[in-house]
Amino acid sequence: MQGYSLNKRILVTGGAGFLGSHLCERLLAEGSEVLCVDNFFTGTRRNIEHLIGNPRFELLRHDVTFPLYVEVDEIYNLACPASPVHYQFDPVQTTKTSVMGAINMLGLAKRTKAKIFQASTSEVYGDPSVHPQPESYWGNVNPIGPRACYDEGKRCAETLFFDYHRQHDLRIKVIRIFNTYGPRMHPGDGRVVSNFIVQALKGEDITIYGDGNQTRSFCYVDDLVEGMIRMMASPDDVTGPVNLGNAGEFRISELAEAVLRLTGSNSKLIRLPLPQDDPKQRKPDTTIAERHLDWAPEVGLEEGLKRTIAYFQSVDLGAR
Ligand SMILES: NC(=O)c1ccc[n+]([C@@H]2O[C@H](COP(=O)([O-])OP(=O)(O)OC[C@H]3O[C@@H](n4cnc5c(N)ncnc54)[C@H](O)[C@@H]3O)[C@@H](O)[C@H]2O)c1
Repeated sequence: MQGYSLNKRILVTGGAGFLGSHLCERLLAEGSEVLCVDNFFTGTRRNIEHLIGNPRFELLRHDVTFPLYVEVDEIYNLACPASPVHYQFDPVQTTKTSVMGAINMLGLAKRTKAKIFQASTSEVYGDPSVHPQPESYWGNVNPIGPRACYDEGKRCAETLFFDYHRQHDLRIKVIRIFNTYGPRMHPGDGRVVSNFIVQALKGEDITIYGDGNQTRSFCYVDDLVEGMIRMMASPDDVTGPVNLGNAGEFRISELAEAVLRLTGSNSKLIRLPLPQDDPKQRKPDTTIAERHLDWAPEVGLEEGLKRTIAYFQSVDLGAR
């Protein structure tokens, strides 16, 4: 039939952001039609400009706190600033984006009968008293602290997803993303990997908060996107939440030393006080992802850092 497409029509909210741009790229490579929706709060046109011109790619400037009327088969809901410096800039808007964005996208999924995916976060575990964190752990979140706009917004979005599933039979897919890094991270977002690389490349002091012994796990973006695709393709009874992240655990001081070594920078390490509510340890238990999605990360920290450093070397760090 002329003008009729058999390709899957996939909506990616937050598609011009770091993770969203990689996801759009991957979905296009698989032959899908991609509608990328973004209000460009932290995302940028530059992240997806290489996709513009692809006849299966469409870009729409839109804020997910407002309803959206489009026809789609699948929805990946990624819209939300992800780093403290950005989500604390306008905390009310952050909660609105998570909660009203979820309501609007779930409403769209209900009307179109689309399958819907939520990019939730390890932040739903707060400062965890269980280590590593399995999905069954309910978390330790301060509901009134400066991180609450993000953490509680994401927790409420999960609630909405599961209520739409129970109440309206929606096909939902919820993943909890642990620290992910890679090319196209925002250089000014204050996240630890981009911070260290940018500081090292500019020859500035590398700022370690606390004594540097707090640990994090770091997942390379390609591994995460593979997990997202597998989650969306999983049987309908796999609703999640499913942790996705790399279980390799590194001290922040180790990360700083690796960045110094791989950039060949002469930057000095300096220590600053820990910000409020900063978790001391964070590491995913990925047993469910391994079992239900047959997924495990493949890119090690050294290799991922090299690719990320190459990206930051190729962009004008003063321009964003
Ligand atoms: N990168 C990580 O380590 C990580 C970890 C946990 C969860 N996540 C989640 O993954 C998603 C993507 O994160 P990211 O790292 O790519 O961050 P990002 O800031 O690069 O991407 C978020 C995108 O959403 C857009 N956006 C924000 N508010 C919007 C709104 N109201 N309407 C439309 N678009 C809006 C931004 O402009 C941006 O393009 C987020 O939901 C985040 O919470 C990321």
